[in-house]
Amino acid sequence: MSLKEQFGKDILLTGWGHSKFGKLIDDTLESLIVQVAGEAIHSSGLDARDIDEIYLGQFNSGMQPLGFTSSLALQLSEDLANVPATRTENACASGSAAFQQGVKAVLAGTARNVLVIGAEKMTDAGADVVGAALLGASYEMAGKSSTTGFTGLFAEVARHYEKRYGAGIAGPGFTAGLGDVLGSIAAKNHSNGMDNPYAQMHRDFGEEFCRTISEKNPMVAEPLRRTDCSPVSDGAAAVVISTSATGGATAPVRLAGFGHANDFFPAEKRDPTEFAATRASWERALGMAGVSIDGLDFAEVHDCFTIAELIMYEAMGLTPRGDGSRAIQEGWVYKDGRLPINVSGGLKAKGHPVGATGVSQHVIAAMQLSGTAGAMQLPNARRGAVQNMGGVGIANYVSVLEAV
Ligand code: COA
Repeated sequence: MSLKEQFGKDILLTGWGHSKFGKLIDDTLESLIVQVAGEAIHSSGLDARDIDEIYLGQFNSGMQPLGFTSSLALQLSEDLANVPATRTENACASGSAAFQQGVKAVLAGTARNVLVIGAEKMTDAGADVVGAALLGASYEMAGKSSTTGFTGLFAEVARHYEKRYGAGIAGPGFTAGLGDVLGSIAAKNHSNGMDNPYAQMHRDFGEEFCRTISEKNPMVAEPLRRTDCSPVSDGAAAVVISTSATGGATAPVRLAGFGHANDFFPAEKRDPTEFAATRASWERALGMAGVSIDGLDFAEVHDCFTIAELIMYEAMGLTPRGDGSRAIQEGWVYKDGRLPINVSGGLKAKGHPVGATGVSQHVIAAMQLSGTAGAMQLPNARRGAVQNMGGVGIANYVSVLEAV
């Protein structure tokens, strides 16, 4: 059943904007927000005065001194005066939180056209400040010192996974260890990132480099090497959500379903090898869209660390639990596989300006579905999914999008 049948109206992504991701020394948080907001409104064929509401996803948590950023998008135009604007915060899923709030405003009928922005400026602060801010998304580690930061938390997940499943390989014929499987995921995403003009890292490291500990690829937190981590990034993305498209819009993209699920915060209340609430968000979104995982042509998922992408193969229902490595070992998730995953390079190569990520994933998916993804374009991309996660499987959002 379509959203129109369920809620009485279509939700369309009618325009979008995306900044380059990376260490952007010439940009400020404000300039990034204004840039992508302008691009999104322009490509939607609307004017600033047509925007009824703004949601801005930004984590911040001390990475920027300005802690009150909802009005920054109004800097784009005098015509945005008095537009209601709200900042959403749900750690690394703040961007998707903004997206789903925007969707709900349109579904509720309180707004016709919503501007959704995700933005983060991480590199102004020192590594210690960024590390402490990110650890604010951990129940156990918030306010505590750590030499391994958020990488340490996902390394713990990887160690639990390895203890329970080995390399996560159930079938015969695979000899790789978990480190090799994670290295293959890193190499895939770095290779994909070569075709993404917005990506922070254009470096096709290759499998051997990603699988090997070296001076250039040191261990950050056992068993995660540098190439198993997303980088620290600046960037922004924006999308306009409407019930209908104007003649001037880029080919619009339809939202087919969305899901959101939060898990309990304390680690002791969760199984570290299963992102249970992530799975619930997938089931909600796919259920609302009325499709199975086999009905998707691609997915952009939250590979903040390579172990997260491996467990995602299981949480999204691509493989049974403990079997995720089959998806990479058997080639399913490569560009030419049965479900290409992170064709954009993912957070791994594209970069992870945390609050921007969820909106960026929606923009990349919209590009694929409107046939405007350039060198990233997949043939016959008709339906895709976006999955964004805050904390270690805590705040989870999935959207299913389709070509109109
Ligand atoms: N993947 C691959 N290469 C990376 C990288 C990454 N994530 N981060 C940096 N590099 C490269 C740089 O390009 C640079 O290459 P060069 O020497 O050839 O120029 C080199 O590694 C050193 O860069 P530097 O910034 O000094 O690295 P670092 O060791 O200080 O930081 C990490 C690397 C992995 C520790 C850092 O990126 C990090 O903390 N990532 C995780 C961020 C995070 O937790 N996000 C939230 C997720 S939920």
